[in-house]
Amino acid sequence: MVTAYDALSAAILDEAGIPLLLVGDSLGMVVMGHSSTVPVTMDDMVHHTAAVRRGAPTALVVADMPFGSFQTDMTAAKRNATRLLKEAGATAVKIEGGGPMTDLVADLVRIGVPVMGHLGLTPQSVNQFGGFKVQGRTQDAADRIVDDIVALEAAGAFAVVIECVPSDVGRRATEAVDIPTIGIGAGADTDAQVLVLPDLLGLTDGPMPRFVKAYIDGRSVIRDAVKSFQSEVASGEYPGPEHRY
Ligand code: KIV
Repeated sequence: MVTAYDALSAAILDEAGIPLLLVGDSLGMVVMGHSSTVPVTMDDMVHHTAAVRRGAPTALVVADMPFGSFQTDMTAAKRNATRLLKEAGATAVKIEGGGPMTDLVADLVRIGVPVMGHLGLTPQSVNQFGGFKVQGRTQDAADRIVDDIVALEAAGAFAVVIECVPSDVGRRATEAVDIPTIGIGAGADTDAQVLVLPDLLGLTDGPMPRFVKAYIDGRSVIRDAVKSFQSEVASGEYPGPEHRY
């Protein structure tokens, strides 16, 4: 799974054969410039999910339920989840959190909304965690993640993201259920892996978490390309005869 926030990147990921596109609320940080995912709104998610759907009309698109859209009231949560399917064209929604969310997951599945869970470092709770920190380090915390994934499976979640936990917690959680686990910083034993596209492309600035692997240095590639454009415009080399009418 790879994140996508717009039609262009969704089309490229789909062409590459990525089976699951995630419109993550990470868009708040990597696209909108916020310092966390907390400010992301339902309207932001609908806007970006609809763009991803236009870029990849037949892909399996999972849209994040943003902070505040599902924690406060079940009726609003159901309305917001159905909005992501009806208005934006998502195939499924992703919900952060374990135990307290299982009733909501079961309710959504009952009304026809496929749900992906998300455990471990759930970024919407960054203020509670005191930062983006590895979760599940103590025996109790690890056991809670395993209990939570079992509860999410029982509630009807079709897959679960496990973020930023020690590798043995990723393995234990994967072994505890039959549904697929998708890891990000959860070791090599989850069923699948997910990365945030701008991280994978080396576009993101600043220190990266240990689990990120940049497959190209996209930031320098883009910087060099636009610098070449700028200097060719200054020298008169661009537009050349072949670019003129
Ligand atoms: O918002 C997001 O991009 C995510 C992934 C990091 C799993 O939730």
